[in-house]
Amino acid sequence: MEKRERFSSRLGFILISAGCAIGLGNVWRFPYIVGKYGGAAFVLVYLVFLVILGLPIMVMEFSVGRASQKSAARSFHVLEPAGTKWHITGYLAILGNYMLMMFYTTVAGWMINYVYKMIHGDFVGKTPDEVGAVFGNMLADPFQMIFWMIVITVVCFGVCSLGFQNGVERITKIMMSFLIVILIVLCIRSVTLDGAAEGLKFYLIPDFGRMVEQGLGETIYAAMGQAFFTLSLGIGAMAIFGSYISKDRSLTGESLNICLLDTFVAFTAGLVIFPACSAFGVNPGEGPGLVFVTLPNIFNQMVGGRIWGTLFFIFMSFAAMSTVIAVFENILSFSMDLWGWDRKKAVLINGLLILVLSLPCALGFNVLDGIQPFGTGSTIQDLEDFIISNNLLPIGSLLYLLFCTRKNGWGWKNFIAEADTGKGMKFPQWARFYVTYILPLIIIFILIMGYWQKFIA
Ligand code: TRP
Repeated sequence: MEKRERFSSRLGFILISAGCAIGLGNVWRFPYIVGKYGGAAFVLVYLVFLVILGLPIMVMEFSVGRASQKSAARSFHVLEPAGTKWHITGYLAILGNYMLMMFYTTVAGWMINYVYKMIHGDFVGKTPDEVGAVFGNMLADPFQMIFWMIVITVVCFGVCSLGFQNGVERITKIMMSFLIVILIVLCIRSVTLDGAAEGLKFYLIPDFGRMVEQGLGETIYAAMGQAFFTLSLGIGAMAIFGSYISKDRSLTGESLNICLLDTFVAFTAGLVIFPACSAFGVNPGEGPGLVFVTLPNIFNQMVGGRIWGTLFFIFMSFAAMSTVIAVFENILSFSMDLWGWDRKKAVLINGLLILVLSLPCALGFNVLDGIQPFGTGSTIQDLEDFIISNNLLPIGSLLYLLFCTRKNGWGWKNFIAEADTGKGMKFPQWARFYVTYILPLIIIFILIMGYWQKFIA
């Protein structure tokens, strides 16, 4: 048996797990849903769910990974009691990782496409409508969409092909370090703009009235969904990194570090975006177009806007690519664990597969825009996102949770022993009742609410 890959350092583990967590969810989705649900009040609700919902499940994923020393494809086979069917979770996880990449590569492609457009000066001297049209034209152009999707896929698999320590760990560490530096620079620029105060107020002072206006139930549901999505839980994406670490540190402490980093980046991304919006008098409640239309317009009015814009989209690209690389690493480890392929072979075959699988999403905005799964204006991407965010992530998380708390699964004793091995914070014993009986209900509630909203309300 070949020796399992290892992180070269603890920092590597934390930055790569954070890199997996920190992605479009933090820098693109978080700011616009905060805008929609009333700023600081929403942020508060979100933070609560991050701790009571996300954190325990992250500890569970890491524990399963570390105890089994396998990726999600095999970890349940190793840990489940003989004769049980928990390993089906592993197949869901595999499906989830591929499915996520089917649309994530396309959106990540938009980000580097925008780096290119910024450097190239595509927005210079354009009116707001024309800037909006740049985004529309990109979506409508299958060649642009496919070209940048291919760039992302090839570059990220390229990084993986260099090996785990030498490629994934080294490059992600560099990207994450730059990401944090760029973020801080952008944040300082934004909060010192004239007129930033208005945006800061919106973002930092809770407005519960606005939250009630949006519907309390819907706000709570959005906060839960975001807490899940941002931490990359439910499809074993985090578990894999648990299988690459030593037993030196307890897993609750490590998970807390990763949650803090993830939250720091999401929160600071808001500090970049909201003050800039108020300084230039635009509405941050735009929705998904915020990053691709509203912000380029702001950069257009800003002194040195082309440089700031370029930096901003490099930041976005790094966030997206660190996630893509982490998920590709998962995908590679599935083939390596299941069939004993070597890394080169796994890269080649999976690389081609992902390129093909990403096509429907990229083409769904143009050639295939007749396919509208959820009614007028919806896209193939919406369908893929729905399958992942509303189904595979919560169901997968629920299965991890049940596996770690039920007697007929891996069970509480084994879970807690693994989670608490090593120095650092222990998983609180008093939380046993909560995670065993209440947390599953919360997740089931999320699942049902998701369906309700999509198909009934
Ligand atoms: N957390 C990622 C982001 O914020 C997205 C994501 C959701 C994800 N679920 C995942 C990434 C599962 C990897 C695995 O963009």
